[in-house]
Amino acid sequence: MSNTALSSTLASALAGDIEDAADMAFTDATSPVQANARPVPRISIQAFCETADVAGAAQVAADDRRLAKAHVAINMGGCDAAGHHFASNPTPNLIILESLAKRAELLAELDRLAEHCDAGTKVIIVGHLNDVTLYRDLLKRGVSEYLVAPVTAGQLMESISNLYNNPETDPVGHVHAYIGAKGGCGSSTICHNAAWMMSEALKSNVVVADMDLAFGTTGLDFNQDPMQGIGDALATPERLDEVLLDRLLTKCSEHLSIFAAPVTLERSYDITPESCESVLDVVRQNVPFVAIDLPHTWMAWTKTVLLRADEVIITAAPDLANLRNAKNIVDLLRQTRRNDSLPHLVLNTVGMPKRPEIAVKEFEAALDLKAAAVIEFDIETFGQAANNGQMIVETNAKAKSVPALRQLALALAHREERIEKKPGLLERLKLKR
Ligand SMILES: Nc1ncnc2c1ncn2[C@@H]1O[C@H](COP(=O)(O)OP(=O)(O)OP(=O)(O)O)[C@@H](O)[C@H]1O
Ligand SMILES: [Mg+2]
Repeated sequence: MSNTALSSTLASALAGDIEDAADMAFTDATSPVQANARPVPRISIQAFCETADVAGAAQVAADDRRLAKAHVAINMGGCDAAGHHFASNPTPNLIILESLAKRAELLAELDRLAEHCDAGTKVIIVGHLNDVTLYRDLLKRGVSEYLVAPVTAGQLMESISNLYNNPETDPVGHVHAYIGAKGGCGSSTICHNAAWMMSEALKSNVVVADMDLAFGTTGLDFNQDPMQGIGDALATPERLDEVLLDRLLTKCSEHLSIFAAPVTLERSYDITPESCESVLDVVRQNVPFVAIDLPHTWMAWTKTVLLRADEVIITAAPDLANLRNAKNIVDLLRQTRRNDSLPHLVLNTVGMPKRPEIAVKEFEAALDLKAAAVIEFDIETFGQAANNGQMIVETNAKAKSVPALRQLALALAHREERIEKKPGLLERLKLKR
């Protein structure tokens, strides 16, 4: 039976006598790879594979940022090996089992394995049979999901993520990390303006988290001088919850709040990757979009934030040092985030008078990455906006950078700009009739 035929058979089967089918997803293995999995919590996963292909996909998933908190062990030997292992070891939160067995044999193997499994353990089966009856039997035995081989790392991640992220109860915000290729290249300005544009365009809540604790400009750019902010959260991350977060955020507009930096030199700041992650996790659970304004530094925590973000935005000025640094960052992201889309490159301050510049095309060719936005040098608008604590569009709605910033904001939210088309001559004639 083809996968399409199977899907429709399944649909009618589900519409008929399987009432609780919604509890278990049946995934068509030929569906396109969708790495739209969300990060999973600190769970333990044991995979027992039969084929190198499935083990390989599991390994790619295990190395992905979305499974960074999970503890994953990949073993070969399928159900037999799992049975031996769990006879003398505790069961993890999730077992992924690949089986080459036929229906009856697979069900018998599962029944044997169930004797050693704790009640809370979830099971994903990767099988090699497109069989609705098998699917029903697995459902009855409490299996969470059945995937038909060949499976991709994206499918595995998505299945795991679906089991541990409930879209109704656990809203998981998207994290956008902004970093400058070189100090002073305009990364914070781009971050604040794109975040603001996004909050206005989507009418969705956005928090700008200023991680430049000593020198951050988020408060200045939004014309705020908050007494509390992200410094308090990072000092005692374990205390941060929804209520405290609400007190530490400063509302700047209907949909945008800032998590401002303390900007005092009396303290020194020792941020750890762990404190940073636990603070950002709380923010993520409470707002749909978090824009992280990273300082131009390279510490363990900066690297962690960058590698774990949903989207990375690199701002660079068109000169050699910016190009070298941007290339290093892009190369690192390409190597370590193989299941993610490429970072967004913003070329800023392009066309500064008298400055020798690397042409946009050359910059893009050197990075093998097309710029998501090219923003001209416009000292009048940017200078005035910075000094007045305004966004660029508030200072000058006609500034050339405004459409580019809007496009960047929409690209980050995976939305396209809908351009209102004026009716053509024919349509106008039709309207008149
Ligand atoms: N396109 C532009 N045209 C003119 N000035 C700009 C432009 N973009 C940013 N600037 C100005 O450049 C200055 C530095 O910008 P910003 O603070 O955003 O850079 P940064 O990369 O975040 O710096 P830091 O390394 O300190 O974090 C600001 O005064 C800002 O107004
Ligand atoms: Mg900055």
